[in-house]
Amino acid sequence: MKSKTPPKSLKGRVQTPGDKSISHRALIFGALAEGVTHITGLLEGDDILHTADAVRAFGAKVKHVSLGHWQVEGVGSAGWRSPKTPVDFGNAGTGARLVMGAAAGFDIQVSYLGDASLSSRPMGRVLEPLEQMGAKFDSADNKLPIAQIQGGRLNPIQYTPPHASAQVKSAILLAGLNTIGTTELTETRLTRDHTENMLGSFGVKVLRKPKDKGQTVTLEGPAHLQATNIKVPGDPSSAAFLIAAALVVPGSDIIVENVMMNPTRTGLFETLTEMGAFIRADNFRRSGGETIADLHIRHSKLRGVTIPSDRVPSMVDEYPVLAVIAATARGQTIMHGLAELRVKESDRLAGTHAMLMANGVDTNIDGDTLIVTGGKITGGAKVKTHHDHRLAMSALILGLAADKPVSIDDSSMIATSFPAFFDLMATIGAPMDVS
Ligand code: S3P
Repeated sequence: MKSKTPPKSLKGRVQTPGDKSISHRALIFGALAEGVTHITGLLEGDDILHTADAVRAFGAKVKHVSLGHWQVEGVGSAGWRSPKTPVDFGNAGTGARLVMGAAAGFDIQVSYLGDASLSSRPMGRVLEPLEQMGAKFDSADNKLPIAQIQGGRLNPIQYTPPHASAQVKSAILLAGLNTIGTTELTETRLTRDHTENMLGSFGVKVLRKPKDKGQTVTLEGPAHLQATNIKVPGDPSSAAFLIAAALVVPGSDIIVENVMMNPTRTGLFETLTEMGAFIRADNFRRSGGETIADLHIRHSKLRGVTIPSDRVPSMVDEYPVLAVIAATARGQTIMHGLAELRVKESDRLAGTHAMLMANGVDTNIDGDTLIVTGGKITGGAKVKTHHDHRLAMSALILGLAADKPVSIDDSSMIATSFPAFFDLMATIGAPMDVS
C-alpha cells in the first residue's frame, strides 16, 4: 500500500466513523445489563468485532441489525457464564482490559488470547489491582495468554493507577460493580471518561470529584446495569488522520463531520490551533451523551510548538500523526512525556521516529521526549508498521507531504480501527495505490 504524491488539494465533506472507545464500552455494558440495548453508529472495525464475539461467549445475545446498528441482549442478574472456548481479543487492548475487569466479578473460568502485538503488551496493570480485589489469574510475565482461574464477588479497593490509563480505570470500575461496598479510583491525570459517562447512562451511580489535574471516581457495589440505547459519536482519533491530510496538502479545504468533542479527547485540536492550523468547530450538538461538532480544516502554514506531558492523556493516540504534521511545520515540535507510547499496539515512540527518519525527516528521541524538526520530506521509504494501525495510517499521510511516495509493509491492521480509511481518503481526493 502506497500513498500517491503529490495529490492535488483535498476537498470534500466526510463523516467520521464511530468512536472505538465508546463502541467497545457499548457492547460490554450492554452485555452486562438487564434488557436489550440498541447501539447505532457502532464502529464495525476488527477490534470491535472481537469484543462482540467476546461478549457473545459470555452469554450475551448480540445481533447485527444493519450497518452500524447492533442489538445486545444482556445477561442481567444471571451474570456472565464461562465461555466454552478461549476468548480472542485480536489486536484490541481496550477490549482485553475492559472485559478482563468485567469478567473478574463473576465466578467463572476463562482463557484469553490476542494477536502477536497484543500478546506483547503489559497486562499486569489490570491483573494486579484485580488480584488485590480477590480475582486470580494464570499467566507468564503478566501477558496474554492469560486464564482467569478465580472470580466472583470481589472486595472493593481504593486504587491509584501508576499510569494515566482509561483502560485500567475502566477495568477496576467494572470489577467494582460486583463488590459489596465502595470502589474508589483516583487518577492523577484525567483520562477519557467514557466509562463514567456510560455507566451513568446504564443507570449506575458514579460519583466524580476533581482532584488537582485528575479526579477521584467512586461507585457502590453491587450495582446493576439497565439496558439503554447508545448512539456512538464520531472518533476524534480517526478524524485526526483526515485533518492531518488536509493540513499537510497545499490548497486543501475539507469538512469532517460528527467529531466527538469530549475535552478528555481534544488535545490534538488544541495543539494544532497553537501551531497555527485553521481548524474550526461548528454546529455543536449532543449525540450519545457526548458533544459533537463538524470540523472545518484548511491547509495551513504551521509552526513548531512544545507540548507538555500533562496533555498526553487527551491525545495519547494522536502522537504518530501529530509527528507527521510537525514534519511540515516551521521549526521544532517538542513532545514531552511519551513513555506510554512504548506500550501501545507497538512501541510507537520508536516506530514514529523510525518512520520519519527513513523518509528524511530530522527527528530525535531524548528519554520520553520526541523532537521533530520540520522541513523537506524526501519520502520514498517502506515503513515497518509492527501490527500498528496508527503507524500505518500516519505513514500514508506522511507520503501525501513527501517528494516521493511512502509505502507500508502491511495495511491490514488499519481495519482494526478505521475500515473506511481508504474510502474516505479517496473521497477527499487522496486515493492510495494498492501495489
Ligand atoms: C482507550 C484508552 C487509551 C487509548 C486506547 C483506548 C480506552 O489507552 O490509547 O486506544 O478506550 O480506554 P490507555 O488506557 O492504555 O492509555
